[in-house]
Amino acid sequence: MKDLFEKIRSNPGPLGKWADVAEGYYIFPKLEGELANRMMFNGKEVVCWSINNYLGLANHPEVRKIDEEASRDWGLAYPMGARMMSGNTEYHGKLEQELAEFVQKESAVLVNFGYQGIMSAIDALLDRKDVVVYDAESHACIVDGVRMHQGKRFAFEHNNIDKLEQNLKRAVGIVEKTGGSILVISEGVFGMRGDQGKLKEIVALKEHYPFRLLVDDAHGFGTLGETGAGAGEEQGVQDEIDVYFSTFAKSMASIGAFLAGPKDIMRFLKYNMRSQMFAKSLPMPFVIGDLKRLEMLRTQPEHKAKLWENVNALQGGLKEAGFDIGNTNSCVTPVYLEGDEVYAMALVNDLRENYGIFCSIVVYPVIPKGMILLRLIPTASHTMEDIDVTIEAFKAIREKLHSGYYATVSVDKVAVKQ
Ligand SMILES: Cc1ncc(COP(=O)(O)O)c(C=O)c1O
Repeated sequence: MKDLFEKIRSNPGPLGKWADVAEGYYIFPKLEGELANRMMFNGKEVVCWSINNYLGLANHPEVRKIDEEASRDWGLAYPMGARMMSGNTEYHGKLEQELAEFVQKESAVLVNFGYQGIMSAIDALLDRKDVVVYDAESHACIVDGVRMHQGKRFAFEHNNIDKLEQNLKRAVGIVEKTGGSILVISEGVFGMRGDQGKLKEIVALKEHYPFRLLVDDAHGFGTLGETGAGAGEEQGVQDEIDVYFSTFAKSMASIGAFLAGPKDIMRFLKYNMRSQMFAKSLPMPFVIGDLKRLEMLRTQPEHKAKLWENVNALQGGLKEAGFDIGNTNSCVTPVYLEGDEVYAMALVNDLRENYGIFCSIVVYPVIPKGMILLRLIPTASHTMEDIDVTIEAFKAIREKLHSGYYATVSVDKVAVKQ
C-alpha cells in the first residue's frame, strides 16, 4: 500500500517532471500586453506565434466594444443556473440558430466549453452496444470522450484510410452481433501538424459501411472553406458530416463551443449531454460577444483574406528557406527540426531572448523522439515584417543547431525564471 500523495510526489507526470526547470518559461509562460502580433514576454517585446487568434478578432475594436457593453449591461452572472433549469435566454437560442446557418446545418446546440462539450456529446451519442472508431491523433478531449464509452473502441493510425477501413470491418462484425451502431470521429484540422482530416475519403467509405461521422473542426471553423464553414466546406463534404463541432476558443476569440447537425439529434444532445445539463449556462457577455463575432465572420471576409495572405507568406517563405513544414494544408504551421528535448529548450530560449520570437514547442511523445516541432500560428494581425524577421531568426537558429551550439548550453542556464 502507498499513500496517495506519496505516489503522486514520486511521479509528477510527463510534463510535471519538467516543472522545476520549465515552469513560467516553457510551460505556463505569461504573455502580457494587448492580444496582438507583438506581445510582452519576460519583460521584452516578442513576435507572438502562439495564440489561435486566427482572424485577429481578439482585440478588434468592434469586439472590444461589444464585450464591454455586454458586460456593463448584463454582468457576468446572468443567466443563473443550468440552461435546462433557469439559465436559458432568447440570445442563447439566437446564437444556436445563427451558428447552424453558418455551418450549413439544420440545428445547433451551445456548450460552455469545447472540451467538456465534445466529451459529453460522445458519451451521449453512444451506448455499450456501439463501436467508436477514431483517429489516433485526436485531441485529448476526444480521447477522454472515447474513454467514457463502455463498448468497443478502435483507434486508427492518423489519417490512414486503409486502417480506418480495417477497423470499420471489425466494427461491423461487432455491431452485427450487438445490434449497435458505429461512430467515426476525426478532426477538420489536426492542431499539431496542421494536416486536415481526410474527410472526403472518410465520407466515401459511407457507401460501404454504416456509420455516422463526428468532426471536431476547432481549427477549420472560420479559417477554411469559401464561407469559413470549415474543413468540410473546403473539401466539399460539409453535408456528409453528421455531427459538426467547433470551439469558440480560436477564430471566435472567445469562450464556448457548439455542435451542429440534424434537429432531432441536436435536441437529443441538448437533453442528454450531462456536462451541460448539470452545469451553469454560458454567461450573457459571451453569448452576445459571440453573436457579434459570428456576424463579423459572415460580413467581413477581409479578416480571412488577410489571414491567408499571412499563412501563404509564412509557409512559402519557410519552404523557400529549406525548412521542413510537413504536410500542413491549414493555417497551422509546424517547423520540424532534429534534436532532443534539452536542445529544444536551449533553442527556444535563444529564439525568445535573442531574436524576439515566441512560438510553441512540441517534443516527444507528441512527435517522434529526436524531433523538435516549433509550431507557428499565423493570424490576420501579423505583418510582413513579423514574417520576415521570423524566417531570418529561424535560419539563424538552424545554423546554430547544426553547428552543435545548443549542445554547449546547459538547461539550467537557459531556464530563465520570472
Ligand atoms: C481540436 C480541439 N478540440 C477541442 C478543444 C477544446 O475546446 P475548449 O477550449 O472550448 O474547451 C480544443 C482547444 O481549444 C481543440 O484544439
